[in-house]
Amino acid sequence: MNEILKVNNIHKIYETPGEKLYILKGLNFIQKREEISLIIGPSGVGKSTFLHIVGGLNKPSQGEVFIDNTPFYRVNEPKRAFLRNKYIGFVFQFHYLLSDFTAIENVMMPLLLNGVPAVSAKKKAQEMLSICKITGRWNHLPSELSGGEKQRVAIARSIVNDPLVLLADEPTGDLDPEHQEDIITLFQSLNQEKKMSIIIVSHNKGLEKIANNVYILGDGKLEKI
Ligand SMILES: Nc1ncnc2c1ncn2[C@@H]1O[C@H](COP(=O)(O)OP(=O)(O)OP(=O)(O)O)[C@@H](O)[C@H]1O
Ligand SMILES: [Mg+2]
Repeated sequence: MNEILKVNNIHKIYETPGEKLYILKGLNFIQKREEISLIIGPSGVGKSTFLHIVGGLNKPSQGEVFIDNTPFYRVNEPKRAFLRNKYIGFVFQFHYLLSDFTAIENVMMPLLLNGVPAVSAKKKAQEMLSICKITGRWNHLPSELSGGEKQRVAIARSIVNDPLVLLADEPTGDLDPEHQEDIITLFQSLNQEKKMSIIIVSHNKGLEKIANNVYILGDGKLEKI
């Protein structure tokens, strides 16, 4: 089957003390294998909410997400964690590197948490850092890295488990044009060489040229443009 991920009639309501916020309103989406989807839309429209729901990190108020035909939210939390681990890599809008750990330790972390021995985890982390063009900064703490380097370490960490689906939330935010271009090239090679399906939320026009489909999120739904 050509679909790796399917989003069926998703609704998301945030209930705050004063009001109910209707963010997603019957959203449908299909991600095909080995394709890149780009999602754009104004600030506050629900792009991160959508991506977190797709990644099994935020339960929708209604609707279901199917990852390789398995429902993400109808299973219990351990099984959902297993599915996330097996299928999903996540590059968060705010990179969330662990500040007390070095670049390479941050990349090793998902492997160590999966019980991979430290020697193999280190080797794999080195390989991922090299793919992400981080050389010679492996033992720096996040506070000792530039914005672009932190972004690339976060991407290295998100791909260390060889995910089939990579979700990236504003991965080129706050970067200068040259480093933005590096990240665009990196996504293209992850897609072409590692056969990853990628969903990117971004306003970066440069990503449109590598995307198979571009969608705009507005009024709680996605529209293909
Ligand atoms: N946990 C929450 N509780 C209540 N409201 C929330 C919560 N998370 C997000 N929201 C609200 O939902 C809306 C969508 O948020 P979201 O982070 O998905 O937007 P976004 O499209 O990613 O925006 P940006 O482009 O600024 O990152 C916003 O108005 C936000 O304030
Ligand atoms: Mg966001």
